[in-house]
Amino acid sequence: MNEDLHQLHCVGCGARIRGVEAGPDFRCANCGELFEVEYPGWGERKGPDRPNAGALKWLWRERRASHEEIDHSGVWRFRELLPILSSFGNVVSLREGNTPLYHLPHAAKRLGIDQIFAKHQGMNPTGSFKDTGMTAALSVAKERGFEWVACASTGNTSAAMAAYAARAGLRCLVLIPEGKIAWGKLAQAMDYGAVTCQLNTDFDGCLSLLTKIVKHAPIYLLNSVNPYRLEGQKTPAFEIAEAFDWNVPDHLIVPGGNLGNSSALGKGFREMKELGLIARMPRISVIQAEGANPLVRSFAANNGTALEPVAAHTRATAIRIGNPASWRKAVRVIQETGGYCLDVNEAEIAIAKAEIGSEGLGCEPASAVTLAGLKKLRAKGAIGSGETVVLLLTGHTLKDADYTIDFHKGTLLGAEESKGLEPELARLRHNAVVVDANEAAVLAAMKGTA
Ligand code: F0G
Repeated sequence: MNEDLHQLHCVGCGARIRGVEAGPDFRCANCGELFEVEYPGWGERKGPDRPNAGALKWLWRERRASHEEIDHSGVWRFRELLPILSSFGNVVSLREGNTPLYHLPHAAKRLGIDQIFAKHQGMNPTGSFKDTGMTAALSVAKERGFEWVACASTGNTSAAMAAYAARAGLRCLVLIPEGKIAWGKLAQAMDYGAVTCQLNTDFDGCLSLLTKIVKHAPIYLLNSVNPYRLEGQKTPAFEIAEAFDWNVPDHLIVPGGNLGNSSALGKGFREMKELGLIARMPRISVIQAEGANPLVRSFAANNGTALEPVAAHTRATAIRIGNPASWRKAVRVIQETGGYCLDVNEAEIAIAKAEIGSEGLGCEPASAVTLAGLKKLRAKGAIGSGETVVLLLTGHTLKDADYTIDFHKGTLLGAEESKGLEPELARLRHNAVVVDANEAAVLAAMKGTA
C-alpha cells in the first residue's frame, strides 16, 4: 500500500494532482472546485492494482471473525477499496462502522411498502455517521505529520473529530455556530479535549472563516471538503450491499446538509459497480429541511447546474446549512441514479422522528428527514409497494434530547406548524407525567387517567 495508488481529481475542471499536492483548503488551484479521490489502477479490466471482486467479498466477510484490531473497523475491513495511506500502521480507529440494518415494520405497514430498513449510522462510537469519515481523514492527517486538525461543524463532525484526535494524540480546533448546536454534541467536543470556539455566525460562516485560517497556519482541515473524509463515508454503501448479499436495495434515502454524505455513498456504489461487485446502483434520493433547501431550489431553478446559497433555518440543527460545499458531487449522484431531491417541513420532520422512536430505534432530527421524505415520495407514487428502501439514519437519538423532550411536552412546534395535525401529534406524544408517590396514582398513570 502506498500513496501512489490514489490521485485527486477535480470535479470542476478535471485536473488531476497527487494527494500531497492538495492545498490546505482542498480547493482546486485552477477552478476552485473540490477534489475526489481516484484510483488509476482500477481503470483497466485486468490492471495489476484492480481489486478482484469475488475474492474481496470472501475476504471482507472473513475479517469479521479476525482478531486483528484493524479488521474490527467497518471502514478498514474494506481497506482494499480505500488505499489512501502509505501504512495501515497509521490507522486511527474507534471500531467504527459495522452498524446495524434494522427493519422498520410499522413504517412499512403504514406506507404499504414491503421492505423498509434503517441503516443506523447513529450506532457509531461517537453517535453519528461522521466517525466513518473521520477515521479515514484523521489517519491521513496523522500519517502526514500534522499536530493540529480542525473543522467547522453543526456538532457531529466536531464530536467525531475531537474523539479521533484524542485517540491519535493530536490537538484539535472546533468552530461552531453559537447557540445553534445540540448540547450533547458540544458536550462531546469538550469531553474529548477540543479547543472549542462558539462563533457569532452560522455554519457557513464558520467554514468560510476556517478556510482562511488553514491557509495561514499548519492545521489539517477535516470538513467534508477534505476528499479523504468521503473515502471513509463511502463504506456504509459496502455494508449495505453486503447485507443484501450484493443485490442492492432499490432506493437509498439520505439527509442533505453539506452534501458530503450523499456524495460519498454514491461514490461507494459507483465504485462497486465499476469493479463488478454489484450489478447496478440503487436510486439515491436526498432530503433537505424546507428552511435549509438550497439543493432543492437548485434543481427547481436550473436542474442542478448552479446553486444559490440560502440563509438556513431549521430545528434539525445538524443540517442547518445554506451553502453546501459538495453540491456538485451530490447532483451527479442524484442524476446518475435517477434519485429525487425534495424538502420536508418542521412538522413532517418531528412526526417522522417520533415514528422512528416508536419503532424502538430513535434518531436525531436531521436523520428523520429520510422517513418524512419517503412518505412524500410514496404519496406521489415515486416508490412502488414492492420496492426495498433503506433510510440512512445519521445520528443517535441522544444527540439532541432537548428536541425530543420539547416534542413530547408539546412545546416544539408553533400553532401554525401543527395546524390540522393535532390528532396525529397527540397520538405520538408520550410526555412524562408528574405523579404522586403512591400505588393508585401510578396505576392510574398506566391507564392514562392520572
Ligand atoms: N445528519 C446529521 C446527523 C449530520 O450531523 C449531518 C451533517 C447531516 C445529516 C448532513 O450530512 O453534511 O454530509 O450532507 N453534519 C455536519 C456536522 C455538517 O458538522 O456535523 P452532509
